[in-house]
Formats: sequence, C-alpha cells, structure tokens
Amino acid sequence: MTADLLREKYLRFFESKGHKIISGASLIPENDPTVLFTTAGMHPLVPYLLGEPHPAGRRLANVQKCVRTGDIEAVGDTSHLTFFEMLGNWSLGDYFKKEAITWSYEFLTSKEWLGFDPDLISVTVFEGEGDIPRDEESIAIWKSLGIPAERIYALPKEDNWWGPAGQTGPCGPDTEMFIDTLKPACSPACRPGCHCGKYIEIWNNVFMQYNKTADGHYEPLKQANVDTGMGVERTICMLQGVESVFETELFAPLMEKIAALATTPPADEEVMQRAQRIIADHLRTATFILGDPKGGVKPGNLGANYVLRRLIRRAVRYGKMLGIVESGFTRILSAIVIENYKRAYPELQEKSDLIFTELTAEEERFAKTLAAGQREFDKVTSALKQHGQSQLSGRTAFKLYDTYGFPLEMTIELAAEQGLAVDREGFEAAFKKHQELSKQGDKTFKGGLADASETTTRLHTATHLLHAALRQVLGDHVQQKGSNITPERLRFDFTHPEKMTPGQLAEVERIVNEQIDRNLPVTMETMTIEEARAGGAIALFSAKYGEQVKVYSAGDFSKEVCGGPHAKSTGELGHFRIRKEESSSAGVRRIRAVLEAKA
Ligand code: ALA
Repeated sequence: MTADLLREKYLRFFESKGHKIISGASLIPENDPTVLFTTAGMHPLVPYLLGEPHPAGRRLANVQKCVRTGDIEAVGDTSHLTFFEMLGNWSLGDYFKKEAITWSYEFLTSKEWLGFDPDLISVTVFEGEGDIPRDEESIAIWKSLGIPAERIYALPKEDNWWGPAGQTGPCGPDTEMFIDTLKPACSPACRPGCHCGKYIEIWNNVFMQYNKTADGHYEPLKQANVDTGMGVERTICMLQGVESVFETELFAPLMEKIAALATTPPADEEVMQRAQRIIADHLRTATFILGDPKGGVKPGNLGANYVLRRLIRRAVRYGKMLGIVESGFTRILSAIVIENYKRAYPELQEKSDLIFTELTAEEERFAKTLAAGQREFDKVTSALKQHGQSQLSGRTAFKLYDTYGFPLEMTIELAAEQGLAVDREGFEAAFKKHQELSKQGDKTFKGGLADASETTTRLHTATHLLHAALRQVLGDHVQQKGSNITPERLRFDFTHPEKMTPGQLAEVERIVNEQIDRNLPVTMETMTIEEARAGGAIALFSAKYGEQVKVYSAGDFSKEVCGGPHAKSTGELGHFRIRKEESSSAGVRRIRAVLEAKA
C-alpha cells in the first residue's frame, strides 16, 4: 500500500457511500485570523458545519494538507509530524454516528479496502462531562461491529473531544481508532492515547454537535455533523508494517540523503535518529508552506512567517549536529521532497524556484547567527575552565538555545568535548518559564478575536470591492496573490509591476466608497467552476472540473468565486480607507486598508 493508493482508495470508498469529492484547501487560511495554518480538513468547512449549505451537498470527502506545530517537540518519535495529509469525510447534518463508525470499520477491515486485522484495532470514546453524557451510542455501535468491551476505552475530554480549530466554533465528542503495534506495553496503565508508541492513532470520527461560543459555552448546533480525519502517513506506516512514518516511501529517499550528507553523526543512535527525523519533517513542512498555491508566507519574525523560520532553522541546527557541511543542503533536501510529491501536489514543482531561493537565503542568514553562538559558547566554556568549573549552567544552555538556536543536545555534545557537563534541569526550568511567558503572549494575541467575526466579514466584502476597483484603475493584469484579514484591517497582495501613484490610490479609494454608498446587495449563487468563469467571475483557486462553487456578487460591480461569508449589502461597510501601499515581493504590491465609521 502506497500513499497514492491509499488516497485513491479512500476517496473511492466514500464516493461509493454517496460522498462528493471536493478539493483540499490552501495551507494558508484565507480570511481567518484565529489560526496561522490549516490544521484539519474541517477548518475550511466551518461555515458549512455551522449550517450554511455547501454547494456540493451534504456528504463530502477530500484530502487536506495540514500543518500543526503544537507537538513540534514530539517530532523525532515514530509518528509525530508537523505536516501531514488528512483524509476526511463529512456529513453536514446528514448521517451520524451509526453510518460514520460502520463505514470507518468497513474501510479499515474489509479485504477489499485496507484489510487491517480487526484484532489489532482498539477504540476510544468520550466518557462524558457535565451536561454531556458518556457516549453509550458509539460504544454500542463498536460492540455490534465485533470490537470487544476490553478494547473500547471511555476517556475524558482531553482525549476524546475535538475542536474548535480556533477559539470558537464547531466541536464535539469523538471516537478514535488505534492500531496496536504489538510492542510491549510501557506500563500497566498503557492504553490507546499513551505516547509510548504501542498504540498509533490513525483515524478520528468527531460528532460535531456543539458550537463553542466566545464566552466558553457549548451551544447545540443547528445540525449534527460528522467530521473525520485519517492520517495518511501513519496509516500507510501501519499498513506497510514499518517501524516509523520515516520509513515509508514518503520519507525514505529524504532519510537516505540526510544519512549520506552527515559527516559526523553522533555515536548515540537515538540522538542521531531523532536529528535525522527532525530535519526530514521540518524541511518537508517548509517546502509545503513555501510551495502553497496561495503563497505569501516567507521566513520572518511574526505569525506564520515565524513558524516557517523556526522550522528551517531547527532543521539547519540539527543538520549541524550531524555534521552536514554542504551549504545549501536545505535546498538539496527540498528538491527530494518536491520530486517525491510532485504528482500529488504539482504546485511544489511550479514553485520550486521560489522554494529554493527562500530556503537558501534563510540558511545563509542563520549560518551567521550560529557562528555568533559558537563564539559565545567558546567564551563561556573557557571562562568556566579557567575557574575550574565542570558544569555549564542551565541559563547559559537556554541562552544558547533561545538566542543562538543551539539545540540542547548539541550544547551537551559540544560541552562534553570540553570535559563539561550541562545542567539539564536548569535548562528545563528556564525553558518552562519562557514557555509560560510566551503562552501568555499567545493569549493576548488571540484575545478579542472571538467577537470579531462581523468585522472580518465586512472587511472580506471590502476586499472584493478593492480587488474589482484595482482592476478598473490599473488593468486586468491585477491578480490576487494573497489576502489576510484581522479584526483591525485587511491586507491584500496583488500583481502589479510598480508602485501605485497617489492619484491611483485616491481613485481606488473613491471607487470603493462609491460602491459602498450605492448600498449594493451582496448575493450568492452556486454553479460549476466553468460556469463561474464563463460568467466573468474572478476565480482564484483551482477547482476540479465540474466542481460546484459559490459565486459572490456585489451588485453589478464585483463577482468572485469565494467561500464567504460576506456582508448582506455594501452599505454596511462604513468608510473605506487605504492605509499603506508597499512592495510585497518582486512584481507584487501590498495594500493595507481599514473600514471606519462613516463621518
Ligand atoms: N478534525 C478532526 C481531527 O483533526 C477529525 O482529528
């Protein structure tokens, strides 16, 4: 079983159960300030889970690229990844627990499909909390399919509740499916959900019946949905019977090259393996982020840009630990990722120049910081030795980690060469303190966004007006390259070869405000992508031939293929003002604009 075959089988199976296959979305969420990346297949579907009709119907399935960095420290074990492909099927107020679980079981165990041995399957269900009872219904369904009671575990919310993807939104109890690797249990308490590697979670069925509101309450949704996610990498790993996801064909060529480039791999096999896996994982993720069709994320110091920077730098650090001396090795490895994935994700090939340029530039920038870190390390260690000390403090180790990007393992190795130990506990303490501080930072960043959906909706409609106005003033070569909305402002990137003149900016602003004053109705129709294009709609994303899409029109002024949501009429928007026009990258301009109360 290969990943190609698994994706195909999954979609065919759910097609046979009445599902429409829809395209996966971009990794970079559009018009959603609550998350930096698409973290699950349900994420682009939130409006439909909340009750808006989906143009393709009530049974959907797809393959979705996902980035999750919450578990970045776990990467290096057999199954954790920062990028993965999720196979998903959805019921939007259509079927519920019985069908979802029965089909999952059929797909997993039937010889015609995946053919897993039923004896290796364990499942978990929600044990209940507060007003929400234990999920007896799922337990009964699993039993009726032949899963014995001792392999059905009822677990608390921290294990068996999923969502929302951001701060608010659809969520619910879930039932998760695990494959037993038959490794010995790590302790008598070992069970599915334990991280020792005995049980590997491959699929999750979420019963999305609730909406988490801004004040933290769970209100019943208008419709009971099913949201499922099956991990491609983990599932083929289990089907191929290999020890880790890194031994599947999705990683094998990458792992081989990393081993070949390493000139001084650490003697400790485990340390070496972890470093190799981290490099492979992080550069694969960086390649997909840089190669995303929507684009716009480059290494930097904030938000998604920072996540990308951290991934690349962490890969470089671990490369150094293995003695990879080849400069531009990130590019060499990224080329292997592209080669490996170009059939399933042609965008990577199309964007390979940009991917290589960005990786190489970041690697070079980081090489300079690392050299500075080495000087700091040399200074500290020689002072310690002069004073007859034998241990490097946790604080220094953390400074090397945080300021200069030295992984702790690397510091320990370098220190050992100088006959010095490292205060690990002191490092952990400094690390924890730092994490707590940055968690607080995260909260402030996210706070206040929950109530912002109306503002972002209006800014989204303003973005359509801006796009159409830019095409009127500058010409039809203007194409959207990126859009990002926070409750405060909109940001719009578009192709245009030169800086806009003050006159052009004033004209664009005037046109948008004119359309707002006309109080145009904003309406939505569904049609096939071909019909949308033929009708003159701007269609940015690539949809499958014949796929149903939503087309939003603002009166006679703008018409775009888009997922919504939008204001009901342009009169709601207030006064539109451009704050800034600047270069985003070669041939791409960026506008920031706001909506203000009308004078
Ligand atoms: N949204 C669910 C998950 O990501 C399926 O696990």
